[in-house]
Amino acid sequence: MTLDRVLSRYGVASRGEAAGMIRAGRVTVNGRTERNPLAWVAPGQAVVRLDGRRLKVARRVYWAMNKPADCITSHGDPKGRRTVYDLLPPGQRWLFPVGRLDQDTTGLLLLTNDSVFAERITNPGSKVEKAYLVKLNGLATEEAMARLRQGVDIGRGEQSGPAHVKLARDNGRLSWLEITIAEGKNRQVRRMVEAVGYRVLKLTRIRIGKLELSGLAPGKMRQIRPEEVVGTSQGGTEPEAPAAERRARPAH
Ligand code: URA
Repeated sequence: MTLDRVLSRYGVASRGEAAGMIRAGRVTVNGRTERNPLAWVAPGQAVVRLDGRRLKVARRVYWAMNKPADCITSHGDPKGRRTVYDLLPPGQRWLFPVGRLDQDTTGLLLLTNDSVFAERITNPGSKVEKAYLVKLNGLATEEAMARLRQGVDIGRGEQSGPAHVKLARDNGRLSWLEITIAEGKNRQVRRMVEAVGYRVLKLTRIRIGKLELSGLAPGKMRQIRPEEVVGTSQGGTEPEAPAAERRARPAH
């Protein structure tokens, strides 16, 4: 893993911030100052220090957030938009989002410092389902739902895989569909809906694996156990994440 990623994935700071710390000469690897953020490091084996503090094993943590609209999933934004990091409890160590939700998509977002767990949830090969409640700009036809179930051409040479699609409700003018997919292509649900001739008026992720959004108010988050999402198995399998240990020397 590159050194900037070691620092970010393992609880110190975002990759961008970590790269700055490394370039500034604040990080040593096995006793030597390393100024290259892309230097290759074996996390469990190398002794990495930040400002002289050894990075030590930290607990893996998992959070579920109900992401509000008008909030982006990236860390920091040149346009100054609100990010999910603005919603984290103060003092929370560095976490990263498990996949992304568009700025206007609301609902369930997982955050963790466990990259193996994150990979498991996002990798289409793991077949972890993500369910969305989708408000359409019209009434859904049976034909449109059948096409969505089968998979459609979503442009840029991509095809959606089979989906579970059911009518959640309609008001005689607009329909709400529940669409469940086990993949996560960029803006996939919006592109699927557009492929069958509709627009998405509102999109909310309501479930990931076994974990439901219900009970979590917009903007709120709660700590979860990985088993709440993926059932039987453990969360990550990578070595526990190091975080900065307290300074061994007394501060002056
Ligand atoms: N599909 C989308 O189109 N957007 C999201 O944010 C998530 C899934």
